[in-house]
Amino acid sequence: MLKHDIVIIGGGLAGLRAAIELNGKCDCAIICKGYPNVAHSTQAQGGINAAISPKDRWEDHAYDTCYGGDYLNDQDAVEVLCSDAPRVIKEMEGMQVNFNRTQDGAVAQRAFGAQRFNRTCFAADRTGHALLHSLYKKALSLGVLFYNEWQVVSITKNGGEVTGVIAIDRASGELIPIAAKAIILATGGAGRVYGKTTNPDNTGDGIALAYNAGAGIMDMEMVQFHPTTLTGCNKLLSEAARGEGAYLLNSKGERFMKKYASDKMELASRDVVSRAEATEIAEGRGVGLDKDSVYLDFRHLDPEIIMNRVPDIRKNAIELVGIDIMKDPVPVQPGQHYTMAGIATDSDCKTELGGLFAAGECACVSVHGANRLGGNSLMETLVFGRRAGISALKYSKDKSFSPIGDTLVKLEEERTKAWMKNGGNMPREIRIAMGKVMDKDVGPFRDEKMLVKAKLEIAKLKGAKISLGEHSSVFNADLQSAYELFFMLTLAECTILGALERKESRGAHFRTDYPKRDDKNWLKHIIFRIGESGPKIGYKEVKITNFKPIERHY
Ligand code: FUM
Repeated sequence: MLKHDIVIIGGGLAGLRAAIELNGKCDCAIICKGYPNVAHSTQAQGGINAAISPKDRWEDHAYDTCYGGDYLNDQDAVEVLCSDAPRVIKEMEGMQVNFNRTQDGAVAQRAFGAQRFNRTCFAADRTGHALLHSLYKKALSLGVLFYNEWQVVSITKNGGEVTGVIAIDRASGELIPIAAKAIILATGGAGRVYGKTTNPDNTGDGIALAYNAGAGIMDMEMVQFHPTTLTGCNKLLSEAARGEGAYLLNSKGERFMKKYASDKMELASRDVVSRAEATEIAEGRGVGLDKDSVYLDFRHLDPEIIMNRVPDIRKNAIELVGIDIMKDPVPVQPGQHYTMAGIATDSDCKTELGGLFAAGECACVSVHGANRLGGNSLMETLVFGRRAGISALKYSKDKSFSPIGDTLVKLEEERTKAWMKNGGNMPREIRIAMGKVMDKDVGPFRDEKMLVKAKLEIAKLKGAKISLGEHSSVFNADLQSAYELFFMLTLAECTILGALERKESRGAHFRTDYPKRDDKNWLKHIIFRIGESGPKIGYKEVKITNFKPIERHY
């Protein structure tokens, strides 16, 4: 049987940073569903936040993060994130990340939403890509072992401790057990639960794997909608656009943000801007053929700014919708972008299961609370990826390997055999239906009626029989999709149940039937754990340290 002291699932920034930490200290390997160089971390474009200027303070970064998160953040974890951030930027410079620079050679920083200081370090509008490629190069130079194109389908346990994983080697189709003393989940978010998402391939595998193994998953109702996704394909047009001065217009040519956030305008928090757009569209001031968009206008910007600081936005708009942003405004709409929910962890990345650690978007530490600040996710991957490595190493030191029984592999074989039988729906048909339900009824505005309807529809889809069109064992894309769908339907269900349960409006979760924040009853996390007849609900206190909750105004 294959075995490694520590297996890391996911080859994006958090997984790579954990592996670099562990290199030479234990036997570790990264299992990656695709290849690390195209991991989802590349999609965080606009920058990475750190208080590196002598005029800034990490405490102010922490304040902005908690205020922006509508106080659902665990403040001890936010302190870890923000105080470690300046060190991380130095570390990344040491790994040759090609940050934009000021004239005197310092790392350049731009404005990003909901922050009182220009503290977002950037590499044009390709920051995630720049970081990822530097870390991947570093990991390759250190000789980190990768299982690329292997898909993990379950975590194995002995009592309350993990013992390894079962994975499909996609090249052969074989189900293979891998024993491990500790596991780090770094698989990213679950954006593909929605139809309109900026996430090309985030299917929530790690969150569902942890939940299926018995760990708690937290704040599932907290879904981030990004205000500027390109209408038609929902490709992300980075917040860097608004950071550099692009603005939003409705069909009357009005900069409508002045009605919703007169101070920060387009640079209010993402939840506020997304809801403002959705309101303009719902009230008939949308643009485009279906009047389902608003315009993002760059025409007043110096072309040099566009070419030096947001070149990919221009390229994407030209290639995907034929619009040159130097000449015409581009239609955008809110789209799912980030999973603020995830596997409940403490600031040492420990989950509720012995030996199971999580970092990055799949984890809910919770540094983002009810609304993440743009630029904090890249920092989260690097701060907590490293910490996950340290914690997993400490845990694994005095552990030995446990065998993984054949029965668990057989169970997965039975599942895949059942999917090979004809007479059901293709995974993609069910996924598309799921995305439509989530877009329509679990979006920026929700109410009881919409959520109850969504719950019934998702239950129906969960009950549908899955049937694969492709029966080969070699790189069976349908089989991969079937597992992803199996994971995502569970997460869709928990998102809806969390949204039904939280009877208030906070950050990205807006209930039109409970439009106010209610700290008396709801300043707490909602946790789901697997039960015999479905998700069991629980609660966890929010950790407040220095910042007393106050009402947000932008
Ligand atoms: O808009 C953006 O560039 C996204 C960045 C982020 O989500 O952190």
